[in-house]
Amino acid sequence: MFKDSFKYYKSRNPKPSFEEVLDFTNSSSWTNKVKSVSINSDNFTKTFDLIDPSAWEAFEILDRPGFIYIKNPFTSIGQRYWIRQAIEEYTKKPNKLNIDIHSLVPLEQNWWDYAKQDKSVLKKLRWSTLGYHHNWDTKIYSDQAKNTFPDNLSRLCYTFAQALGYDFKAEAAIVNFYHLDSTLAGHTDHSEEYLDAPLFSFSFGNSAVFLLGGLTIDEKPTAVVIHSGDVVIMSKESRLSYHAVPRIVKTEKQMWNDFNCESDVPLDSELRMYTSQSNFNEFQDYLEGLRINLNVRQVLPHGQLNLIGTVPNKDI
Ligand code: OGA
Ligand code: MN
Repeated sequence: MFKDSFKYYKSRNPKPSFEEVLDFTNSSSWTNKVKSVSINSDNFTKTFDLIDPSAWEAFEILDRPGFIYIKNPFTSIGQRYWIRQAIEEYTKKPNKLNIDIHSLVPLEQNWWDYAKQDKSVLKKLRWSTLGYHHNWDTKIYSDQAKNTFPDNLSRLCYTFAQALGYDFKAEAAIVNFYHLDSTLAGHTDHSEEYLDAPLFSFSFGNSAVFLLGGLTIDEKPTAVVIHSGDVVIMSKESRLSYHAVPRIVKTEKQMWNDFNCESDVPLDSELRMYTSQSNFNEFQDYLEGLRINLNVRQVLPHGQLNLIGTVPNKDI
């Protein structure tokens, strides 16, 4: 059943109908299928990148308990900031990239800098990994393959965890770079030692059809469209559910260019510079054919410092 839906939404000819796809920007597609999730804004400290939590719209899909969707809570400057961070910063060493093994980029150069002279590497980037590096073959994390997790992304997750009442520590992330013809096949994310923690997923750029199934591939998945800025949390029953991205959908509404509520970011601030049109143009060009997904996980139980099996012996 999962595979049939994947094939259906992936197909170019014929094109799929979006009639059964939940789209939170179109309320007729989701009435009676979701319930509102309350947001705790008690400890929220105002940041430039997010709108006030009192304005966040969060939903849980009734058929898929634990799957929480927050409709774009980012400001447009916030979207630009995270897009730039993902493309420019999270692709720098010591983070790992799928193209590392091909030695396409000279060792001393950053991928993004190199891409300015050799555009062929733009399309070849598919992922980078941060913190505990995901091992795509063994699916086993290792204390020997980890780097410091970026502080800013860790804080972003913490903000959402607080707002939803979860205890969460960001320790590993996959940054997915999808091109317009990319897909992500059905899978579960079960490599983490501590599976009680939710998984946080932030998406920017073009939209995607996301399939969320059950604990086996026999269940027909629910299709949801994810737009730029949307936040998805897979927790509880949904944490170990099958999911996939069968299709990228070019967006008609580039929210990162829609300057709306930026009045509190001073014009002369560093952030204004960082996200200004002249500094953003090169990212904009790449983004025309791109979707970015930051997929963040906690690996270890709270308080545990190493993976089991590699915990240093305690003196008796
Ligand atoms: C993943 C994943 C979903 C997405 O990276 O494991 O499921 O929305 N990504 O790109
Ligand atoms: Mn996944």
